[in-house]
Amino acid sequence: MEVHVAIFIGSASDEPTVAPCADILKQLGIPYFFTVTSAHRTPDRTARLVDDLEARGCQVYICAAGMAAHLAGAVAARTTKPVIGIPVAASALNGMDALLATVQMPPGFPVATVALDKAGARNAAWLAAQILALHDPALQDRLRAARAKFAADVAAAGDELSARHQPC
Ligand code: RP5
Repeated sequence: MEVHVAIFIGSASDEPTVAPCADILKQLGIPYFFTVTSAHRTPDRTARLVDDLEARGCQVYICAAGMAAHLAGAVAARTTKPVIGIPVAASALNGMDALLATVQMPPGFPVATVALDKAGARNAAWLAAQILALHDPALQDRLRAARAKFAADVAAAGDELSARHQPC
């Protein structure tokens, strides 16, 4: 089956954090593959998955991990497709460890690092969609519609707040 985006998480414990990423891809109609694989615990599985997904037409990889978060880097070493990294706060360092491990890639092996945790998971999906939309006008339209809804929601929240705080 065709896959446009792969989501890898370093542990099953990352799933609640990264689930919003999958929800957004689903909402946008983007075919994705979501699994657990670890740079450290399953290095061979990680490499095999990337090789298989390349053959299935995967265009963007999203990798989420906590602690010494090397998953996005390991994937970036294996593919020339864009890799997006989500640092997960999973230790006493509150994600600073994962943030630095994900963002500080050596030249030639970029990882587009988004915000920590659920906010980053959401933006990873939006960024992957924007990359795919470069060659997909219908997806570009769906992104524009999503932006219009963001704007409408803010305006509605503003109107509702103003209505509750009428001048005396
Ligand atoms: C990382 O270590 C995982 O991505 C996870 O965020 C963290 C803790 O993993 P578990 O001990 O919960 O499996 O590799």
